[in-house]
This record gives sequence, structure tokens and C-alpha cells, in this order.
Amino acid sequence: MDRIYFTTPIYYVNAQPHLGHTYTTIIADTLKRYHRMRGRDVFFLTGTDEHGDKIAQAAAADDVDPKAYADRISGLFRSTWDTCGITYDYFIRTTDDYHKATVSRILQHIYDAGDIYFGEYGGFYCYGCERFFTEKELQGGKCPDHQTRAAYINEKNYFFRMSKYQDRLLEILNENPEFVTPQRYRTEVLALLREPLEDLCISRPRSRLQWGIPLPFDQDYVTYVWFDALINYVSALEHHGEDTFNAYWPRCNHIIAKDIVKPHAIFWPTMLMAAGLPLFHRLNVHGYWIMDKGKMSKSLGNVIRPLDMKERYGMDAFRYYLLREMVFGQDATFSMEAFVNRINADLANNFGNLVSRVLAMQKRYFGGVVQPMGNGDRPEDRELKQAFQEAANGVDRYMEDMHFHRALEAIFAALDRANQYIVQTAPFTLVKDPDQKPRVGEILHQLLESVRITGELLSPFLPETGAAVRELLGLPATDGLRAEWGGSFPEGHEVRPPRILFPRIEETEDAGE
Ligand code: MSP
Repeated sequence: MDRIYFTTPIYYVNAQPHLGHTYTTIIADTLKRYHRMRGRDVFFLTGTDEHGDKIAQAAAADDVDPKAYADRISGLFRSTWDTCGITYDYFIRTTDDYHKATVSRILQHIYDAGDIYFGEYGGFYCYGCERFFTEKELQGGKCPDHQTRAAYINEKNYFFRMSKYQDRLLEILNENPEFVTPQRYRTEVLALLREPLEDLCISRPRSRLQWGIPLPFDQDYVTYVWFDALINYVSALEHHGEDTFNAYWPRCNHIIAKDIVKPHAIFWPTMLMAAGLPLFHRLNVHGYWIMDKGKMSKSLGNVIRPLDMKERYGMDAFRYYLLREMVFGQDATFSMEAFVNRINADLANNFGNLVSRVLAMQKRYFGGVVQPMGNGDRPEDRELKQAFQEAANGVDRYMEDMHFHRALEAIFAALDRANQYIVQTAPFTLVKDPDQKPRVGEILHQLLESVRITGELLSPFLPETGAAVRELLGLPATDGLRAEWGGSFPEGHEVRPPRILFPRIEETEDAGE
């Protein structure tokens, strides 16, 4: 069976789940549901990154020990994803014992192979990114992401001979143009590789930082947070047994945002090479959500919380906006006004109205009982069928490249066609002529089929809606996709009366306030 493995970054526990984390996690969830529906065997991993300076500092500010602090925030991430209906297969914590054991084993392996050495280094460090920056990467001495001044640190530490693997990494990027995708991020990585790579400082003296995994070959040091964190993708699978690792690892698709390209595209593959492990399949990088009132921050009061959005508008509306609005790879602006417009236009008016109208007519004209479909050879019938076949093909094509917005556009193009079909065939007028009643039955059957396929195509993106559509159509829940046209309703099958799937949103207030 076709297998596929999706990972999100493991999130730092110094912040609560917000829009950015939710977006990446929703993408992974959508991919999992989509591939599962196509009969593939999917493993979806998420979790929390709990060691390092940043977490130690946050815990100290809260006056609790780091483990208690990490337990609390990690629990919050997990319960948020559970409440949001995220179908992760496993939730990893870097404080889990098996993970720490894998990190130690890999460190020892690389050390024994001679790729870790002891030395002294001074450089500019950003605690937000938890990494050293070259002077070229800094802007006026500040980290370009966090806009905070990088601290100069000079210490004796252990170093990973990352430079040794530079040429091999370059070869891999050249041999496999999709190793880092979309292209703009591959270009960014190639630009970084044009300069000689420095070796990677992979330890912190325990005298300065207690909160980390001790180096197996020197207990006075703990490992660097990225060295610890990246290994989660391997340790989680290994924890499920060697067979699980062998089955999924070669099909590993990492999903991250552009902020952590360097650790994933440079540190991680070189670490894997040194550890003697095969490389991941692909690194998929998306852009950043920018708030329409500037950068997302607590002090600006514009932090979007997934649970608030779910509570106010429903999870599917939130998922729809995020997946429809962002072009994978590019930045997007989050605006409540655009959110409201998008939901009202596409979900309430276009899709919601179509479902209500069709079910209402089915109820009024035929007591809800589905009529024969006819042979479908009228031009308008053929066009309708073709529109949904194109939508199904479009979804498959666009999902290959993670073009979620295009996949949704393809589905909504078919819905536009279905709305035109109602206008064109005018069942509400035809029904007045008793001789035309069988034709009205045919028209409605084809519209019900349009609604059914829409529900199925939408269900990886909008799972609650997919289930609601099947329920309204009186069909049993399903995991698989049946995109073929016709044959869905047995003779005498009865559909339910309409109910509102997406209420119009009348307010335009800022959800973050
Ligand atoms: N702990 C590291 C990752 C280790 S992975 C081995 C980390 N954590 S994080 O909590 O800062 O999460 C960063 C990720 O959160 C981004 O790569 C992205 O997936 C998501 N996002 C956080 N803010 C975001 C936006 N404003 N927009 C889109 N996604 C962003 O880095």
C-alpha cells in the first residue's frame, strides 16, 4: 500500500497555540484526510519542543520548574488539537524518555564517527531562533525575524562537522529539485550553500543551561535545542517499532514555515548523513500569516486563537478561510473583514444556499424521495457532470503540489456550474406543468449528486461539512471517495429536509480583541 508520512514542526512551549501553529497543523490534517480518502496509509506527527534557553527563561519568569511549565503548555497544544478535530497519529514531546534515548544514541554515533569535536567559538546568538547568525544574516546587529539584538556568546563547546557535508547536500539539491519546495525556498537554500558552511555548535555548558539532554560523552554539557528537536521526526517513528520507521521514513514530508528553513534544509539533512540515516523525502515550506494590523503579537491584541475562532464561527469556516486564502509558499494577510466576506460568499451563499434550495425542492415536490436520474444526455446535464469530474481531477492535481487554494477553487467552480444549472433548468417553474414533473425529478437528482460529490471532495478540507452533507443526503459515513457520477441513491431513497450549514456572519468585529 502507498504510504506517506507528514510532520509539523514541534512547537515551542513558550507560547500558546495561535494562528501560525494552527495553519501548519490544519494543512497536515487536510493532507492526512485527503491521502487517507485516496486509500493511502498515512502517519501524521505533531508535538512540542520543550528544551532550551527559551523555555527555561519562560518557566523562570512564571516561577515554575521547566518540566511543570512544559507539561502545562504541551497539554494545551494537545487539547487544542483534540478540540479542533485534528487527526494526528502521534503527539511527541522532546521530554519523553524514548526521545532522549534516541538523541543520545545519534549523538554518540556521530561522535564515534569523528564528526563531533570540542572547540571554542564566539558568535551572535538569537534566543528567539535559538541559533547563531552570521554577520551577513543579521540586519544592523538584529535578528531579521525577531528584531531583537543578537547576543554575543563565546564559549567552549562541542561542534558538529557540518561543513564536511556541504558538497553532498548541494549534490542532493541538484539531483532532486523537489527536495525543498516551493522553488523560492530551494533558491534560498542554494544561496546559503554558496558560502562555506560553518560547523554547528551543538552543546551548551550545563553551568549555564540545565534544561536539555546531557551529551552522552560529556555530562557537563547538554545538547543544543535544534539537535534535540529535529531528531523528533525519527524518534517518534522508532518508538512505534522498526517496521514503522522503515515503512514511513522514506516517505517523510516535512511541513514548516519559512522561519525555520535553515535548520530543516541544512542542519537536518547533514545530521542525517552523519548519523548514517536516509534523508527525508521532501521539505514543504509555507509563508507567513501577517495580521492586517501588522505583526501578530499579544501586545497588539491581534493574536488569533484557534479555539476562539472555532467557538465563534465553527472550525470548518476557519479551515476554509486559511486554506483558501493562502497560496502555499507565499505570505498572506489575515483580516477579519476578508474572513467574513469569504465565508459569506463561498460557504453561506454559494454552497450553503445550493444545498438548502435543492433539499427544499426535493422535500416540497417529492416528499424528499429521490427520483430516477434519467439518461443525462442533455447538454446541460452533460456539462454539469463534466464540471464535477473536472473538479475531482483538479483536486488530485493541485494536492500534489499542496495548492490547497486551487483545489478549493476547482470545487467552487463546479458549484458555480451547479448554481447556473438551477437557473438554466428552472425546476421551480417546470414543476408547475404536471407533464414536466419527471424532468424536475431528474434535475433534482443531478443536483443532489452535485451536492454529494461536493461534500466528498470538500471533506478533507472541511470534515464537519463533509459529514453533515452525507447526513443530509441520508447516506452512511464513509472514509473513501466516490467521485463517479450517479448510482448513489437507491430507488425510493429519502433525503432529509434542509438545515442551514453555514449561517451568514453579520458582524465584522476583530476576533482578536
Ligand atoms: N520548535 C521549533 C521547531 C522545531 S521542529 C524540529 C519552532 N517552534 S515554533 O513554535 O516557533 O513554531 C514555528 C512554526 O509555527 C512555523 O514554522 C510555522 O509552522 C508556525 N508558525 C508560527 N507563526 C507563523 C505565522 N505567523 N504564519 C504561519 N506559520 C507560522 O520553530
